[in-house]
Amino acid sequence: MHRAAVLGTGSCLPERILTNNELEQMVDTSDEWISSRTGIRTRRIAGSGEQNYQLASSAACKALEAADISAAEVDLIIVATMTPHMIMPSCACFVQAEIGAENAFAFDLNAACSGYLYGLDLADKYISGRPEMKVLVIGSETLSARVNWQDRNTCILFGDGAGACVIGGSDHRGIVDSRLFSDGRLWKLLYMDSPASRNPDLSDPDRKGCFIQMTGRDVFKYAVRAMENAVTSLLDRQHISIDEVTLLIPHQANVRILGKLMDRLGVEQEKVFINVDKYGNTSAASIPIALDEANRQGRLQQGDLVLFCSFGGGFTWGSMLMRW
Ligand code: COA
Repeated sequence: MHRAAVLGTGSCLPERILTNNELEQMVDTSDEWISSRTGIRTRRIAGSGEQNYQLASSAACKALEAADISAAEVDLIIVATMTPHMIMPSCACFVQAEIGAENAFAFDLNAACSGYLYGLDLADKYISGRPEMKVLVIGSETLSARVNWQDRNTCILFGDGAGACVIGGSDHRGIVDSRLFSDGRLWKLLYMDSPASRNPDLSDPDRKGCFIQMTGRDVFKYAVRAMENAVTSLLDRQHISIDEVTLLIPHQANVRILGKLMDRLGVEQEKVFINVDKYGNTSAASIPIALDEANRQGRLQQGDLVLFCSFGGGFTWGSMLMRW
């Protein structure tokens, strides 16, 4: 049986770094509060020339280069995002045009912060039918356009960026199994009202209602429990112990959520990849950015078992096991 394996990874972060000290000048907060409650110290903010599809395209080009595959060889582009450049056409179509993937079909997928795992799962389904396919799965967000910079409860948490993988068929490595979940009844705890992130004007007073709304404490509790269940049920189904996992790459929401998750799963910190301190929560982009960094740092060797888990608005959540 063919599995969907990662052939190359890439990521792209905006140049502008926004520090906690700068946020102190914008809202009533402090570096100490943000660091101790979230572990976040800096985040990246997209500027002109760094629209969602441009970040996504840059990440995709790096992944293609790493995989030694040309854009013309790509059969499918999936962009997981909740901040698309426009509602129509999809961000994925913009990427297709930008990188010259003229033989691909392309579409977006929105499962909030879980979007990347949903995208990989979908790529796996395509590959199992046609193992020769080459699929670009991208997670890309410009959340800074959809954050209320006067709301200290949310604006400290999020950042912009993109990550990508080229996925292709393999008979000895790739996605082993995944478990995906949603519960739409809980949508009011974490939502964003209206679409598209193009031409963000952060000071526009007409943008009320476009911003991320969150009931932080409830989200925190659900996130820990949901990711724990997603991981343990997946490991049980595969008869694999957490000790056999080489690296856990969770959605980078904040270090306190990750700390609780590690405690409950009984996994040591050295086995968990964390970069939320640098980039904040980049939603669908967080897992592929982390995967690219882990890969480029040499944290993954052939045959390693990599475990992913995520949680986000919807609610959506899930887990995935991959043989590297
Ligand atoms: N700076 C200073 N004080 C702040 C603040 C900030 N940036 N944001 C909130 N506060 C204040 C609150 O107003 C509240 O003050 P009050 O007691 O006077 O009303 C106090 O800090 C405690 O707020 P609370 O919301 O209870 O804090 P918390 O310990 O739950 O931490 C979060 C807040 C957002 C960090 C935490 O709930 C969290 O991490 N939630 C999950 C968020 C997340 O990851 N979402 C995305 C999931 S994909």
